[in-house]
Amino acid sequence: MQLFLDTASIKEIRTMWEIGILDGVTTNPTLVAKEGRKFEEVLREICALGVPSVSAEVVATETEGMLAEGRHLREIHPSIYVKCPMTPAGLRATRILAKEGTRVNVTLVFSANQALLAAKVGATYVSPFIGRLDDQGQVGMDLIRDIVTIYRNYRFPTKVLVASVRHPVHVLEAAKIGADIATMPYSVMEKLVEHPLTDIGLQRFLKDWEKVPKG
Ligand code: G3P
Repeated sequence: MQLFLDTASIKEIRTMWEIGILDGVTTNPTLVAKEGRKFEEVLREICALGVPSVSAEVVATETEGMLAEGRHLREIHPSIYVKCPMTPAGLRATRILAKEGTRVNVTLVFSANQALLAAKVGATYVSPFIGRLDDQGQVGMDLIRDIVTIYRNYRFPTKVLVASVRHPVHVLEAAKIGADIATMPYSVMEKLVEHPLTDIGLQRFLKDWEKVPKG
């Protein structure tokens, strides 16, 4: 399973990239706005770290605008994946961009039928937002199960990128289902690495090591 950071913070990306557990980065307009920096500048810096998959979202709402933005974004760096929203205009843009060889991440997916359509138009990734479904009282993880089943049934090559991840149990459940990728905030990825018993155990080993005769 690939692990992505859902952030536009270079500091956060660099930290996980240097540990060696990061496979990619997803950004969205909200995350970019939080950084208060120019979008392209941030994208270039992320790509320069060597991150092999960096999703950058279009903000146009009509197909022609999405195509222009998508074509521009993909020229920034070979690691860029263009994010298009799950709308009729977004599906049209995805189909055209995919035919041109651009890898498209269809975002804002909230139903299995939407995911089916995204796969049919050639999306490389589909991004179902599970946390936002949970927020509405619907079990987001059920959607992941359905999409994985549908893609397997028809051997769609589209990868399931679990988004709107809020805690480590989301990552665990997605991995058990066999989702391809989970994208998460830095705080969640940190929690995958850390465990209080690891820290307590290490402290005990170091303390006991002091009692071992040296020299
Ligand atoms: O990047 C899309 C998605 O992961 C956003 O998550 O927490 O704003 O629902 P959230």
